[in-house]
Amino acid sequence: MTFPHDAGHPLHRPRRLRSHSRLRDLVREHRLTVDDLIYPLFVYHGTNLRREIRSMPGQYQFSLDRLGEAVAEVVELGIPSVLLFGIPEHKDATGSAASQEQGIVQEAVRLIKRQAPELLVITDVCFCEYTDHGHCGPLTETAGRVDVDNDATLPLLAEQAVSHARAGADVIAPSGMMDGMVAAIRSGLDGAGFPGVPILSYAAKFASAYYGPFREAAESTPSFGDRRTYQMDSANSDEAIREVEIDLAEGADMVMVKPALAYMDIVRRVKAEFRVPVAVYNVSGEYAMVKAAAANGWIDERRIVLETLTGFKRAGADMIITYHALDAARWLRGG
Ligand code: PBG
Ligand code: ZN
Repeated sequence: MTFPHDAGHPLHRPRRLRSHSRLRDLVREHRLTVDDLIYPLFVYHGTNLRREIRSMPGQYQFSLDRLGEAVAEVVELGIPSVLLFGIPEHKDATGSAASQEQGIVQEAVRLIKRQAPELLVITDVCFCEYTDHGHCGPLTETAGRVDVDNDATLPLLAEQAVSHARAGADVIAPSGMMDGMVAAIRSGLDGAGFPGVPILSYAAKFASAYYGPFREAAESTPSFGDRRTYQMDSANSDEAIREVEIDLAEGADMVMVKPALAYMDIVRRVKAEFRVPVAVYNVSGEYAMVKAAAANGWIDERRIVLETLTGFKRAGADMIITYHALDAARWLRGG
């Protein structure tokens, strides 16, 4: 008696389930859908502006009067949510323009809510687009070293978050990696009558070279130094778990891992350990690399993007913030 596998006939044949495309559909474990996507938008001061970002082909800075064009496209494609970034006209040492009632993001939220009330509006809460030095909060000098003043930033973050909520923001997403930011924002929102506005914390945000193109888009490059004293060291994984644990304890409703591609292990760990909704941010540099290779004809953009976004789902992400959202939505709808 000879066993089939002894004679060069394998006992196990996983290929059976790959033999027919309908069968592959049936056994597919993860699915990317339009419902998973969040599209980032850059709102720029001034008028009649729809300016393409040099290092992010296909992405634009919009002035308020033309933001509606982007919003209409998002709605038309069935994308459920946008993430707003504002670039104000005036910057100062504390980023005071960030919390003004008539500020750029506040106005953008009101405008979107009028145009598309059903669209979920998430606002990025930080100061780097609003400070003249480009750091994520006001600075302080201790023993000759200049750094962001963590504790002085906290009440300012709460103030900014409240102003976004007043304008109608549905979700508040603090991205500055200040210690205590979630607790400060939570108590600020609760105290101002917004206990029902959820917080999506950029909990595990790494100091990354992948943010380069974004900083051009948002005019938020630090004028000196870098963000390594507040954003995480890319070599650390246990620390990411600790960051997420702290943010959840402070009241975060959802947590984000950022960037995405080089940090899929973090997404997996966070999802496994906390079982809370996890967002992944497919950042500007990741987008730029795909666009550059596609422009050269070196890769199949559609297949690369859908494979990558599906990979985020497989890693454990519930939602994906991506500049590819418009294209992905078109492709997912068969366009
Ligand atoms: C600002 C912020 C950054 C991004 C989102 N919010 C840049 C940074 O931390 O320097 C990066 C997004 C991207 O690269 O697409 N706090
Ligand atoms: Zn910032």
